[in-house]
Formats: sequence, C-alpha cells, structure tokens
Amino acid sequence: MSDYNFETEAIRTQTERSQFAEHSTPLYLTSSFIFDDAEDMRASFAEEKEKNLYSRFSNPNTTEFVSKVVKMEGAEAGYAFATGMSAIFSTLGALLDSGDHIVSSRSIFGSTHALFTKYFPKWNITTSYFDVLKIEDIESLIRPSTKMLFAESPTNPGVDILDLEKMGAIAKKHNLLLVIDNCFATPYLQQPIKFGADLVIHSATKLMDGQGRVLGGVTVGTNDLMREIYLFSRNTGPAMSPFNAWVLSKSLETLSIRVDRHCENALKAAKYLESKSNINWVKYPFLKSHPQYEIAKKQMKLGGNIIAFEVVGGIDAGRNFLNNIKMCTLSANLGDTRTIVTHPASTTHSKLSIEDRLMVGITDGLVRISIGLENIDDIIADLEQALIVM
Ligand SMILES: Cc1ncc(COP(=O)(O)O)c(C=O)c1O
Repeated sequence: MSDYNFETEAIRTQTERSQFAEHSTPLYLTSSFIFDDAEDMRASFAEEKEKNLYSRFSNPNTTEFVSKVVKMEGAEAGYAFATGMSAIFSTLGALLDSGDHIVSSRSIFGSTHALFTKYFPKWNITTSYFDVLKIEDIESLIRPSTKMLFAESPTNPGVDILDLEKMGAIAKKHNLLLVIDNCFATPYLQQPIKFGADLVIHSATKLMDGQGRVLGGVTVGTNDLMREIYLFSRNTGPAMSPFNAWVLSKSLETLSIRVDRHCENALKAAKYLESKSNINWVKYPFLKSHPQYEIAKKQMKLGGNIIAFEVVGGIDAGRNFLNNIKMCTLSANLGDTRTIVTHPASTTHSKLSIEDRLMVGITDGLVRISIGLENIDDIIADLEQALIVM
C-alpha cells in the first residue's frame, strides 16, 4: 500500500542513495554485482538476502521503476521488460501450460493478436475472441480449459471501452486470471486491480515514457503470480535495460502532469472534430456521444489522449487527410509529446480483409490521433487546414 499520494510516490519512490548522497537516482549501468565472500554469494543466490546479483534478474534502476508502477497500480510486485510485447509474451508464457485456453477481446494490439493466433497454437494454447461491445458473450466462450481472460481498455485503434468491473466479476465467478493491458490509460487514469484484475501489463514505450525515446514494458500483480513471471523471465532473459529503466523512472515523475495536459488537449480536439461536417463520427471516451461514456467515467479519471474519427469519403479521404497534415507527424508510435496521426486501414491493418477490419471497428475512413503536448491551438489549426484542403 502507498504511503503518499500518486504524484508524490512517482517522485519520492527512490533507490537507496549511494555514498555520494546524490539527490536524483544515478544510472547503474552494470551487468553484475559483487559479493563480500563465498557465504555472502551463497546466501544471495539462495535468496536468503535481498541483493542484486545480475541485471537480468534485477538492477537498482529497474527496481526503482518497477516499485513506482507497483505503487501506482496498487499491486504487490512487478517485473520490467525490454518492450511491451516482451512483457505480454513472458507474462503469458510463464503462466500458461499446453492445453490452456484464453478468452480475449477481439480488439487487441496487432502483435498480441499475432501471438495468440500464430505462435501460442504451436504450444497448444488456444484463444477465443469476444466482441468488445458484447462482453455478455464472454461466459459462453469459457471452457473447462479456460485459464485467462485478456483485454485492453481503451482499445486500439477503435477507442472502445470495456467494463472492467463486469470483467472482474466474470473472472472471479469462473476462477480465471484477469489480465489487462492498461497501456492506453496509464495507472494515472485507470487502475484495473481495483476492478478485479490479477495482472496489469503496460507498454512503457507509450505515455509512460511519453517522449518517444525508449522502449519498455512492465507487468505488475500479486506476489505469487509475479514470482512465477520473475522466475520465467530471469531464465529466459527479456529484462529491461538499466538505461531504459533510468529514463522511464524519471518519466514517471512527470506522468500525472503530462497526462493531465494530454487529456485536456484531446478533449478539446475531440470537441472540435465533432463540430466538423466532413467527419462522420468521433470517438473519445470522455465525449458524451461515446457509446460507453458512462463506463469510461466510472473507471477512468480522464479520457486519455487517443481519438478515433471517420472522415467522409472512405479510404481515399483518410489517406488524403494524412497527406494534408503539416505539423503533426505520421508515425507508428503513440503517447508522445508530438501529435501523431495514423490511418489504420491503409497501414497497420491493411492486410486484414474488410470484414475482419470491420469486426474490430476499423472502417476505411478511420483516422487515429494520439494527441500530444503542443499548444492545442496549433494542433487544431493543423487538423483544420488538413480537413479544408480535402
Ligand atoms: C495496447 C498496446 N499493447 C502493447 C504494445 C506493445 O508495446 P511495445 O511496442 O513496447 O512492444 C502496444 C504498442 O503499440 C500497444 O499499443
């Protein structure tokens, strides 16, 4: 349990100071650590002492980063990974056995979907998908072999919201592990453990870093589950680098103020887009018109920084809009200080059939914007000129 409020923990959770009495945590760029004598080494390896042994297992920088996320999410323990995908792969790989079955939301990040459909079946781990708008279907997909319920909320790129309280109740009733990818919300906006999640995963690459610099991932949850994940990971080697952990721990110090401004900008941009006649619809969790607005309000502090909208005119209109953009950037990342615009139908999801795309809510004209921290007037001016020249 936390001693201080969220913002204070993000700053004051700190690795023990060295003999130099530094104010801000230094970078411990070391692959291994030393022992006083044979007994110290034996006892440390036997985990009779809490000591760093080797940076694949732990390092003062990764421990500081993880401790912050553990407190922010209200978890018991955690482990930091090189990327969000290595967090997802290692977390599930550590806990699932051959023959296990996952029930997952259909709207999940592309590489997570590839993991479930292309690679897990090699180890006889199968997945059934439910539509994000029909979570009442979840129970009909549960089998005796179902071990895990997996979802993201808000979803990518459709910005749909899943009712985490209902998901928690279903997981509890059927004794399933509830695993939530909380990357779009960050622990500042939403803490899935409060609603019954056993494990929460993040791509720290997104809003946690928030400045488009480093890749990272983190999983937090209960002590017993994290112990399994830690043992699996210390043997298989997906650990976060000390350098990235140092950068990310500093980033968390400003997470709350950055995310506040991201959300303020995003709500203004969403309202602006909603007023435009050449846009069919706009989806942003804290717009009253969002189909799951009430659920978003219940489980999120603010609406996040991702907006989905559909320009009139289908795939060509979507592409034209992107071509007209001047200041904002076209990039695969999101959750950066810089506003990023993408057109999923012609890029990330172009290999899917139209039917499959529509099943996850990606229409031909859908544009996804990750609203940044530039002055909102400049962001809106860029969107305005791009819409006018279409
Ligand atoms: C929701 C979500 N989960 C996981 C990932 C994977 O994270 P990474 O790129 O850090 O591996 C992403 C990346 O975009 C994402 O958006």
